[in-house]
Amino acid sequence: MRYRRLGKTGLHVSVIGLGTWQFGGEWGKQFTQSEVDQMLGRAQELGINFTDTAECYGDHLSEQLIGRAIRGQRDKWIIATKFGHQFIRNFERAERWAPEEVLAQLEASLKALGTETIDLYQFHSGSDQVFNQDALWTMLDKQVKAGKVRFLGISISSKSENLYQVQQASQVGASVIQLVYNRLERGPEQRVLPACQEQDLGVLARVPLASGLLSGKYQPGTQFTQADDVRSQQDQAELQRRLQWVQEIARQEVPPGVPMAAWALAWCLRHPAVTCVIPGCKTVEQIEMNARAADLVSADHPQAWD
Ligand SMILES: NC(=O)c1ccc[n+]([C@@H]2O[C@H](COP(=O)([O-])OP(=O)(O)OC[C@H]3O[C@@H](n4cnc5c(N)ncnc54)[C@H](OP(=O)(O)O)[C@@H]3O)[C@@H](O)[C@H]2O)c1
Repeated sequence: MRYRRLGKTGLHVSVIGLGTWQFGGEWGKQFTQSEVDQMLGRAQELGINFTDTAECYGDHLSEQLIGRAIRGQRDKWIIATKFGHQFIRNFERAERWAPEEVLAQLEASLKALGTETIDLYQFHSGSDQVFNQDALWTMLDKQVKAGKVRFLGISISSKSENLYQVQQASQVGASVIQLVYNRLERGPEQRVLPACQEQDLGVLARVPLASGLLSGKYQPGTQFTQADDVRSQQDQAELQRRLQWVQEIARQEVPPGVPMAAWALAWCLRHPAVTCVIPGCKTVEQIEMNARAADLVSADHPQAWD
């Protein structure tokens, strides 16, 4: 594994992290505690020390599964979670941004994770309107001072560029940005990633496999028909266009013998602003394959620690 400094937090995170939206049950699979125990145990053996979850991956369900899986191993993990929503049912959330609502979510996340402190607490892809609440950031600053949160972050929405929230990050006390960045979605290279570098913000690249398409295992024509798989909710014509594009990339850019998923993760990590990728995983085998992407990553990176 390789490690990098997560911007001005100074935390040393593995370049391959573990995304865990999947544990909430919206990716065509329900997870047992024993499966999650095995996945996190194997991730830890492979040197992965960072996991990203959220309040609404199930009703704190993903957090609960993680909390139980790492009981007794808390110091081995840097845990990121988020605030701003209440899970109602699959693919349906209620927005909850009032400071007292966020405080209640924080208490629920601490309980679910079985921890006294959350390492990274992220604003979960809200609008500028809910972002621009001094009372929210003041309340969060108090939680940092009280030790319930170590660092604050902003997981920007993919609906627009969201440069504004990135530019305001240091102002509101946030030191990490989470954003969609992968070989098919390079928009952040224009203005967002440079803005992160200017402020020395850590950068978490989410959806690094373009929802699994960049694994290379799906051929054009694949239909995601399972009702509890989030990909059945996506624009199917756009999905087909992307599958064609992935085939071209596989032919033209992926070196022979290199698994496309590992290549796609390493591709994100080449950018000097990117600290860590957080591929969502569903099996121990996927974790093992994704961890191997660290072998393709050069030690020559501005945030390299090893
Ligand atoms: N707003 C936000 O803050 C936000 C939004 C989205 C995601 N996130 C975070 O970012 C994480 C990653 O994003 P994501 O999970 O949406 O997308 P992703 O990482 O691009 O894709 C994940 C999917 O790719 C497939 N996969 C993973 N590793 C693989 C491998 N080695 N070989 C083949 N297939 C593999 C799995 O699905 P199949 O095997 O079924 O194909 C997995 O569910 C999430 O888990 C979550 O923690 C945050």
